Amino acid sequence: MLKKLIIVGGRGNGTNIAANVEDINRADPEWDLLGFFNDTDEIGSELFGYPVLGRPEDMTSPRFADVSFIYSFITMQYGKNNALKLENYGIPPERFPSIIHPSATIPKGTEIGHGSVIMPGVYFGSYTRVGSHCTLLRNFSLGHGSTMDNYCYGGNGAVIGADVRLKEGAYIGTGAVTRERVTLGEWCIVGIGSVIIRDVPPMTVVAGNPARFIKQRTFETFNPRK
Ligand SMILES: CC(C)(COP(=O)(O)OP(=O)(O)OC[C@H]1O[C@@H](n2cnc3c(N)ncnc32)[C@H](O)[C@@H]1OP(=O)(O)O)[C@@H](O)C(=O)NCCC(=O)NCCS
Repeated sequence: MLKKLIIVGGRGNGTNIAANVEDINRADPEWDLLGFFNDTDEIGSELFGYPVLGRPEDMTSPRFADVSFIYSFITMQYGKNNALKLENYGIPPERFPSIIHPSATIPKGTEIGHGSVIMPGVYFGSYTRVGSHCTLLRNFSLGHGSTMDNYCYGGNGAVIGADVRLKEGAYIGTGAVTRERVTLGEWCIVGIGSVIIRDVPPMTVVAGNPARFIKQRTFETFNPRK
């Protein structure tokens, strides 16, 4: 029997996840994708061919007790705040399956936590570990022995060297690369196309080749669009 799934998110990451789910189902039917929860679209409207069924807080409603969720709100702008919101809902981890594209390369023994999204062409080296609620975009590559804690984000085509540690919420932008054995601190941001050759301190934004300090990040004031 297909398992019921609701994507908590919207246009962008959320609809990309819907496409991922459709690819999974084409390879081997697994999910009955019921629709979306988000704060922006009108309830009853349609998104990517699926209905908008409610708001994120509806995850706690008994009406949806037999449904699994994938939460796609751990974005650059709202990362830690939305991670805390998710934790406050108190929903058991087993209600958040990981959504893994069939084209990902996943060697035996790879550990992947709950509620993570693995997009097409993602590559894991041997002895790698990914935490919960991580988002790994198309062709992201994690070198052997490397680990990612919860809420990390790997951009399209970013390449992590061997034995690298990404701590909680570390965000690596599109096409960025790292040397082996570095540590990316909690909730840091690595800019698009950057080259990381040394550790990145927590809560900092770094960018360039070699990456340089751009700014300190705070969740109250940080908004890269300003
Ligand atoms: C690093 C980043 C977060 C900085 O954004 P911001 O806080 O708005 O910073 P600004 O654009 O004001 O740039 C600040 C400085 O950093 C430099 N800079 C920004 N991004 C850079 C990058 N990727 N490489 C090199 N330098 C960069 C700017 O040139 C500017 O330098 P200056 O002060 O000498 O003029 C952003 O540029 C970025 O790379 N975001 C990641 C995007 C991404 O990967 N998205 C994936 C979505 S699919």
